[in-house]
Amino acid sequence: MLSNQNKTPLFDALKAYHERGVIPFDVPGHKHGNGIPEFAEFVGKKVLEIDVNSMKPLDNISNPISVIKEAEELMANAYWADHSFFIVNGTSSAVQAMIMSVCQPGDKIILPRNAHKSAINGLILSGALPVYIQPETNEELGIAMGVSVDSVERAIAKNPDAKAVFIINPTYYGAVSDLENIVKLAHKHGMAVLVDEAHGAHFRFSNDLPMEAMELGADMAAVSLHKTGGSLTQSSVLLLNEGLIDKNTVKTILNLTQTTSASYLLMSSLDVARKMLATKGDTVLSKILELTREARDQINKIDGLYAFGKELIGTPGVFSFDETKLGVNVTGLGLTGFEVYDILRDEYNIQVELGDVLNILAIVSVGDTEESLKALVDALKDISEKYRGSKKTQIKYAKIALENPEVIVSPRNAFYTRKKFIKLEEAEGEISGESIMAYPPGIPIVTPGERISKEMIHYINFLKSQHSMLTDSQDPYVEKIKVLGL
Ligand SMILES: Cc1ncc(COP(=O)(O)O)c(C=O)c1O
Repeated sequence: MLSNQNKTPLFDALKAYHERGVIPFDVPGHKHGNGIPEFAEFVGKKVLEIDVNSMKPLDNISNPISVIKEAEELMANAYWADHSFFIVNGTSSAVQAMIMSVCQPGDKIILPRNAHKSAINGLILSGALPVYIQPETNEELGIAMGVSVDSVERAIAKNPDAKAVFIINPTYYGAVSDLENIVKLAHKHGMAVLVDEAHGAHFRFSNDLPMEAMELGADMAAVSLHKTGGSLTQSSVLLLNEGLIDKNTVKTILNLTQTTSASYLLMSSLDVARKMLATKGDTVLSKILELTREARDQINKIDGLYAFGKELIGTPGVFSFDETKLGVNVTGLGLTGFEVYDILRDEYNIQVELGDVLNILAIVSVGDTEESLKALVDALKDISEKYRGSKKTQIKYAKIALENPEVIVSPRNAFYTRKKFIKLEEAEGEISGESIMAYPPGIPIVTPGERISKEMIHYINFLKSQHSMLTDSQDPYVEKIKVLGL
């Protein structure tokens, strides 16, 4: 039964604080923006007047007992979860908290190798041992999809002592695995199901979208309301269905790493985004889906482009599909996705979420309009006319270079073992001491403890040649890589 989702207890408390005109002798030191007038003038003074720290009337994220607690209960209720925890350090910290809530050092966790870096970092923090399953891949699109129930079943059969199964719902590009059957399978074997729902915050609020983790009986879900739910960047939610995992364990884990100065701008934006989704989400998302379908149809009429969608359902690793992810395969233009990504920004002032070797990805969400989608479609038409056939890009490394990495040392042991820098070109066969990835999507090409293969080196070099943003390596230009050894 839904509680009154029109309520916004935390936002209301913040507005009441603002109305009282409190004289601040606490942090933050900008004191309602007075200390940084240039910034206050640009963003608006009110924003800084409500950029405050925890105090009695505003509750405290470390131990919510009043307005944050109420707001979290409403959030849990909106997602049909038993509990929710507000997160202000991105879904990354929610993903890490999920893993740390279930896994102790040495415990196994089954997860797809295309998990986001936050999951890999969760392995380092928890000391858990990864049992990787390969996601299904779509060779034509050159991207990883979801995982099959069979591959989860095989991993469970080989690792009956694993503590948890970690699933991405949906992938960056919108592919959804058969979570319902994976949950049943994992639970039959006493394993918890942890779901990275960074890209699925909107699922719960439309019957026309894939199903959300809590509804399908998963134990925990890390949900990026800031990505597709409308709240401010970094704000996120950790959802819990009690049973295998205890609420107080999660609270303790979160308090290990979560800030003691949680932003009220971020938290109250969660409160208001939840109200919007719960009360108007269905209508807003119907409109968004209609606009996205229309845009997809129009893009599919443009020479050289293929906007993929629900027709992928039934192909390997695609049990369902999130149509608000507007992925466009651009190979027919003779350009890479990286190039189209740059052209869209530099020549059309359009920032899409990511470009990879063969595709670009536009994320359509609750804030989009007919005009924004029209601008994207028009730009793609223009790009097709201008560039199609003008260049023949050699796309050699479209195939995802993540297949079957050899895990030699656990991520945590690799992280803490002594390391040295060597030239990337000379690293084949060595054991990596660090993660390297393109961001976005933030999926590691190599992680600590894995043997570095020739394909990984080629792929990194290819990404460099495409000026893709490489992250996490100590050498910012990835000329060198940290490997284990003295
Ligand atoms: C699949 C996935 N999980 C987790 C995250 C982490 O989310 P955040 O950036 O909010 O920390 C991301 C971010 O891109 C992601 O794509």
